[in-house]
Amino acid sequence: SDPDLVARAAAAKAALGDRVFVLGHHYQRDEVIQFADVTGDSFKLARDAAARPEAPYIVFCGVHFMAESADILTGDDQRVILPDLAAGCSMADMATFDQVEECWDVLTDLGIADRVVPVTYMNSSADIKAFVGRRDGVVCTSSNAERALGWAFERGEQVLFLPDQHLGRNTAVLEMGLSLEDCVVYNPHRPNGGLTDEQLRGAKMILWKGHCSVHGRFSKASVDEVRERVPGVNVLVHPECRHEVVTAADLVGSTEYIIKALDAAEPGSSWAIGTELNLVKRLAAAHPDKNVMFLDKTVCFCSTMNRIDLPHLVWTLEALVRGEVPNQITVDPETARHAKAALDRMLALP
Ligand code: 13P
Ligand code: SF4
Repeated sequence: SDPDLVARAAAAKAALGDRVFVLGHHYQRDEVIQFADVTGDSFKLARDAAARPEAPYIVFCGVHFMAESADILTGDDQRVILPDLAAGCSMADMATFDQVEECWDVLTDLGIADRVVPVTYMNSSADIKAFVGRRDGVVCTSSNAERALGWAFERGEQVLFLPDQHLGRNTAVLEMGLSLEDCVVYNPHRPNGGLTDEQLRGAKMILWKGHCSVHGRFSKASVDEVRERVPGVNVLVHPECRHEVVTAADLVGSTEYIIKALDAAEPGSSWAIGTELNLVKRLAAAHPDKNVMFLDKTVCFCSTMNRIDLPHLVWTLEALVRGEVPNQITVDPETARHAKAALDRMLALP
């Protein structure tokens, strides 16, 4: 990266000292990650967001729903800043508040809403988390989805899982012992979700029709291809990948799990990784003694994660030095209160 920008970011960060706390998701660019005080997957960053209550500014290098969660989980006197407001998440955008309310109305009219526990993936807007919080549901991330589903099935007979159908299905089938037939997909663009009343009544898992535009692109063909090309390769993928990809892989886990698996891997071993490219490149560089490769070369970076780049970080930090607060992310208090209930239930999972 541009040495002049690196020097400017370093100078601005030094000038701010303890007044700024920089969080970086594992999918961020190296040029940004080098300035993070804490790096992590979305669970770790949610847990650590409140770790520096004395810092008035939290610069969140990640995407919008993560910055919202940080605002919800931190004190009123801390301001959360997203260096580029266009850093959203296409998966989170696949479930709007109105669509989820409409779905709940369908379940209510069917007389089954009382036995459905809503669970939302972290990758959802604050108002979806608040919706779930109001109905005594829970947030989950890719590192605790199994525990969150276990919690939900102790409280209800059915789960409405938002918005990632793949994480929901993979967790239900691979971790909870449910079958594919126990899962239906609710399409918010179709009347009744495109399902019959019987299907909605009979399903243990009502999966929202959402997916990650990055992980959803890995295919079973790419797993077969790498196994043929690289004998003995270990295929390690994120649970946002499609079910057929996850079942064809050797290991599945969140970004934090993927990092630990590589740390523990034998020198000389080969690894094909199905997750975001910035992380895979960083892992390959960190493990020169292992053969680390990207599972499918046709899959690209997460375009919204990549919007946070060094120029945006420099612009943000220099504005803070001048006493300006750009791109603050705020969640209104009523939404925050209910979303926090659902987030707190996740943070309290055993
Ligand atoms: P984790 O951080 O939970 O691994 O999720 C990956 C992701 O897609 C974040 O946007
Ligand atoms: Fe959203 Fe997927 Fe990008 Fe994560 S990797 S921010 S889920 S689009």
